[in-house]
Amino acid sequence: MSTILSAVAWPYANGPRHIGHVAGFGVPSDVFSRYMRMAGHDVLMVSGTDEHGTPILVAADEAGMTARELADKNNRLIVEDLVQLGLSYDLFTRTTTGNHYHTVQSMFEVVRDNGYMLVQTTRGAISPSTGRTLPDRYIEGTCPICGDPSARGDQCDSCGNQLDPTDLINPVSRINGETPKFIETDHYFLDLPALAGALSRWLDEREESGTWRPNVIKFSKNFLEDIRPRAMTRDIDWGIPVPGWEDQPGKRLYVWFDAVIGYLSASIEWARRSGDPEAWRKWWNDPEALSYYFMGKDNIVFHSQIWPAEMIGYNGMGDKGGEPGTFGKLNLPTEVVSSEFLTMEGKKFASSRGIVIYVRDMLSRYQADALRYFISAAGPENSDADFTWAEFVRRTNSELVAGWGNLINRTGAMIAKNFGEIPQPGELEEIDRELLKAIEDGFVEIGNLIEHHRQKAAIAHAMKLVGDANKYVTVTEPFKMKGEDQRERLATVLHTLAQAVVNLNLLLSPFLPFAANKVDQVFGGEGNVAPMPRIEEVIDLDIKREDGSDLDYPIITGDYTKVPQWAPREIKIGTPVAKPKPIFVKLDESIIEEELERYGMK
Ligand code: MF3
Ligand code: ZN
Repeated sequence: MSTILSAVAWPYANGPRHIGHVAGFGVPSDVFSRYMRMAGHDVLMVSGTDEHGTPILVAADEAGMTARELADKNNRLIVEDLVQLGLSYDLFTRTTTGNHYHTVQSMFEVVRDNGYMLVQTTRGAISPSTGRTLPDRYIEGTCPICGDPSARGDQCDSCGNQLDPTDLINPVSRINGETPKFIETDHYFLDLPALAGALSRWLDEREESGTWRPNVIKFSKNFLEDIRPRAMTRDIDWGIPVPGWEDQPGKRLYVWFDAVIGYLSASIEWARRSGDPEAWRKWWNDPEALSYYFMGKDNIVFHSQIWPAEMIGYNGMGDKGGEPGTFGKLNLPTEVVSSEFLTMEGKKFASSRGIVIYVRDMLSRYQADALRYFISAAGPENSDADFTWAEFVRRTNSELVAGWGNLINRTGAMIAKNFGEIPQPGELEEIDRELLKAIEDGFVEIGNLIEHHRQKAAIAHAMKLVGDANKYVTVTEPFKMKGEDQRERLATVLHTLAQAVVNLNLLLSPFLPFAANKVDQVFGGEGNVAPMPRIEEVIDLDIKREDGSDLDYPIITGDYTKVPQWAPREIKIGTPVAKPKPIFVKLDESIIEEELERYGMK
């Protein structure tokens, strides 16, 4: 039994999340965590909304709200969406809590005191008319690399390169079109060159473990080639105040510096709320504990370079030495699990142009398990993947409804009609034993695949076993066994099928948790083989709002301790079985046209 941190990327609170986001970080981390709990490990799954930085400010300005108001609104929307999708966080919180502020600031102080934060003077943009600093993202100009005229001061969307505002040709303010003035400004830089040796030793060791996806290791090692100090503060007035620079409210910690620390602060918040404030240490200080970080590929550099570098600096393990602070020596990531991108009908998601399917819209019309199934079976695990409505309908109807759903239905219906309860079997024949054995072996095979982040292969194997069980029905023809002399064989076949379905249901439960609970009830269970997350309204542990009122917010949490074991489970003869209602909703072909129209894709 291992101690496992499931660290899930923190969605930006600049708007609701779309299905591409949850395909990248959401469903894969939940499948992994649900499986690991069933396999007997001690899992802590944490995340929250990422609420600082220019993306939030830009969205707030557009909406005519303060950053705080916008973050409050989107935090709640995102929490609701993720719960609807059944994502089993132990704690999903946010980056604007007092606990997070304290954790980040104390981390900053130790990294700085250990010598890994350097103050350097750089050139920053201000608006000549207002005298206010202009965040990088508010500046637009021509990309010096690809020539695209609408590059921003932080990056060029057209060629994907990271930029500095001073790189842009003909820079102008996106707010009022004026030409920004560049002035000298001081910032803290993380001394990555002094941390590079330790980073590279850590990556070598991770590479030897052989478990990382090769492209992620290669990508991460590439960053080490061009390593230089990176600014960890910004000229912006929304973010966590910089310790020691409290008299300069126009300077805040860089959003990525604080967001990655969220994994630690959320673990601490979880422990404090659980009544044992030190309980988080088990996941962070015990060198045997394992940590898995789930994200889309645009997040890799922050998890394989910035976050480990922050921890190396905190631990005092870079070239300049140092001592860890009160959090103790922190564990570096065991694995950075990154997925590729999801497109929609061949196009990149772009909320600004309406090319986007929000999780909320999807779930208002379709079952959460249908979306989870599509993502697990056809998502961007190892290469970019395309979501099309035609494929969504096809997979839902022919695999979920006609495959798994049909097996459950006919098994339940035949048992209900002929026996009303799980019948006592006669002697098993070869064909019965073969089916049961293949499914029992599935626990080892599918478990292994999930442990190695091969969820597509895992669910494909489970669905192949579903296919085997459906074939078994076709071959044995229990629906034709009408005579009294066939009654014992009928009982044996239906008993075999019930046993098959109950075990298949366990195998599929990490992927299809809502269905799993319903199937469990069909065969006499209590319907909690896949425990569900819930929303809880809480009050900030450390701070109040500016007007003195309680700072309240919704968290996602849940009790996932009573999960069934990842192992075959023997059914009980005599368990009453009623004719089941269909578990999955069959989709009408006409929705393809309807949806294409709705999203303006026709
Ligand atoms: N907010 C980022 C995004 O949506 C992810 C942040 S992950 C974190 O791409 F760990 F830094 F929080
Ligand atoms: Zn470019």
